[in-house]
Parts: sequence; C-alpha cells; structure tokens
Amino acid sequence: MQLERREYIAELFRGRYGSEPQLWARAPGRVDLMGSHTDYNLGYVLTLPISRDTWMAVKKNGTRNVRLHAANLNEDDSFSLDAIEKTSTKKWSNYARGVATVLQSEGLQTDGFDAVIQSTVPLESGLSSSAALECVTAVVFRELGGWNMAAKAMAALCQRAENEFVGVNCGILDQYSSCLGQEECALLLDCRDLSTRAVRTAGGIAVVICNTMSPRRLSGSEYDLRRADCERGAAILGVSSLREVTAEVLAARRNELPEQVAKRCEFIVAESARADSLATALEAGNREAVARLCAESFAGARDLYEISSPSMVAMHKAMQEAPGVIGSRQAGAGFGGCMVAFVDAQSTDDFRDAVDKTYFNATGLRPEVYPVRAATGAAIFEP
Ligand code: GLA
Repeated sequence: MQLERREYIAELFRGRYGSEPQLWARAPGRVDLMGSHTDYNLGYVLTLPISRDTWMAVKKNGTRNVRLHAANLNEDDSFSLDAIEKTSTKKWSNYARGVATVLQSEGLQTDGFDAVIQSTVPLESGLSSSAALECVTAVVFRELGGWNMAAKAMAALCQRAENEFVGVNCGILDQYSSCLGQEECALLLDCRDLSTRAVRTAGGIAVVICNTMSPRRLSGSEYDLRRADCERGAAILGVSSLREVTAEVLAARRNELPEQVAKRCEFIVAESARADSLATALEAGNREAVARLCAESFAGARDLYEISSPSMVAMHKAMQEAPGVIGSRQAGAGFGGCMVAFVDAQSTDDFRDAVDKTYFNATGLRPEVYPVRAATGAAIFEP
C-alpha cells in the first residue's frame, strides 16, 4: 500500500516536473475522541492523530517560487515567496501560502520547491485535512531551510497561519495533533498550558470513523457564534476563559447568564471534564464509562451546544444500533462531517456493514466507515 502510494505520487511528480522527488514529508489528520470546542476555551481535549495522512513529495527548485500539485483535486498552483498573497481560486493553496508567510514573519529562511501533495484525510470532513497540509508544509520548509524548531512551536505557527492568513479563528487542537502525534497513543491535551499526557487504550477497543458524507454546512459562521457565546459567558462570570469555571460555580451562577450562553457554558465545562474522564476510562478498558461519557457528549453537542445536524443524528442512531459498539459521539466542529465510535476490536467489520445499511436506509447517503490507528506527528520520512 505504502509503496503503491509512493509510486503513484512519484509518477505524478515526474509527469509534472520531469525529475524524481528528493524529499518526502507527511503529517496526520486527527479525530477528537472527546472534547468538542474545548480547545479555544482552554480546556481538555483527548485527541488521536490518525493513520490517515497528507504526503508531500518535494524537490528544491533553486528559485523563489513554490509550485504545488494537489493530487486529490487534480489542481496546480504556484506562488512567489517574495510576494505572497491570498488566492480566492485555489483555496487549499492558502494553507501553504499562510505557513510560508508566518515563517517569513519569524525571520526563518524559506526556499522555493516543487511538490506533489496527496492526502488520505478526507477533505472538509472534520478530520483536519487543512492542519495536515499546514504542518506538512512547515516541515518541508524547515528541512529545506536547514533551521530547527520543536513540534510545539511549529504547531503554534501553523495555527497562526490559519488564524491570520487563512482567516479561520480555530483553536490549537488540529495543528497540535498533527505535529505531536505519538505511536500507539491518544493525547490528552491541556489547552491552557499545552501540556499532554500520552494515553494508551486498553486492548480490544478500536476507534472507528463514521463519515456522514454530508457537507459541514454553516460550520464557519456557527463556529464563530459559539466562540462568542463562550467569551460572553466567561466575561459575565469574570474569568479569562471557561477553563476557570467549575461545574459547581456554573450551577450556582447559572441564572446570571442569558439562557443560550448558559447552555454553551454548561456543555464546555462538562465536555472538558469528560475528556479527562475518557482518558482514564480508555486506559482502564472501562467500557461502561466509555459508553456513558460518549452518550453525554453526543446529547450535549446536540441539545446544549447545538452543533448537530439531521445526518449526525441519523448516524448516531446507526452507530448505537450496530453490533460491537461501545460508545459513539460526534467529532470535529459539528454540522456534518465525521463522527467517531469505540467498537469491540473483533467486531469492526460487522459494525461497518450494519452502520452502512442503517445509515443509507435512513438518509440515502453512503457513509464511509473505517477503523483508524494512532499516528506519529508531522515529519520527513522515507516511504
Ligand atoms: C475545529 C477547529 C479546532 C476545534 C474543533 C472543535 O476543528 O479547528 O480548533 O475548535 O473544531 O473541537
């Protein structure tokens, strides 16, 4: 598989640029196992950098131009490192342009190169294909420029590229996951101090992605509205972020908050605590706790944070009815895209077949259902 993928990309590279790539880099997507929208509230997220990733085959070209071919979209783009602007036609290219811009603003050397990009992270589905592209680009610039930078700092710069250049007001979760992945571990990320704890799931529990295949409508505008509600809640409660609020304090002061803001705060405070609890439950193989935490998370996302969608509700029903399910919940920012299930490792095929059938019958959409493993963070590699 890996060799076939390499050969496919190398062939595209030769066709476009007439030579062999000299460097390969990869960066993973991620799925949040627990902790929706907790990152920008400086709470906890349990994240899994996944075995679906973005590869870049590269050759330095000795000019100030970056030339890119996006294999998944069959599109080309190029830009000059001396005059980087945002493009409105090839939006995917803005992730690379943004990274180059931010690196330059830090005084880091950037060199022109030719590249083919190819990804097994489904695009715009809530598994962070954009962060994977940012992080793989940063790794390539670092290697070609011959400078050093630790993974955490790199994640922060990639987040800045997305915030400042692309214009998406995301938190640190996606870039952090893509840069800091570890073999066989999920990461419990504390977004207040960016410390992590590696979490090893007890044997016998598989993580399965269930893609609703319904596009994430509204995700941008609604994302900003959710952030604003949380900031309003924190301001009324007199704290710098919702991380500083306990469930007890929130319950005692709930009536000071407008109802919608109170619901958002309630979800975030509980969801952040659930991320920590799920880490412990997975380590211990406590399936009842996994089931309960996932059920609470799904219900809260639907009723309190209101980021669900009809297709996500249909998918949740299909996942919960399927053989081998331990727990399931929504993932990503919401409003469509991917969801996640914990499934008995012996039953993933039966689970997939049942979800496919039930979900298709309910929605007319063919879902994509597949197990994922933990993956290491963005790096140069030899495929
Ligand atoms: C998107 C953002 C992340 C995070 C999640 C929701 O993926 O990019 O920063 O807020 O949504 O948890």
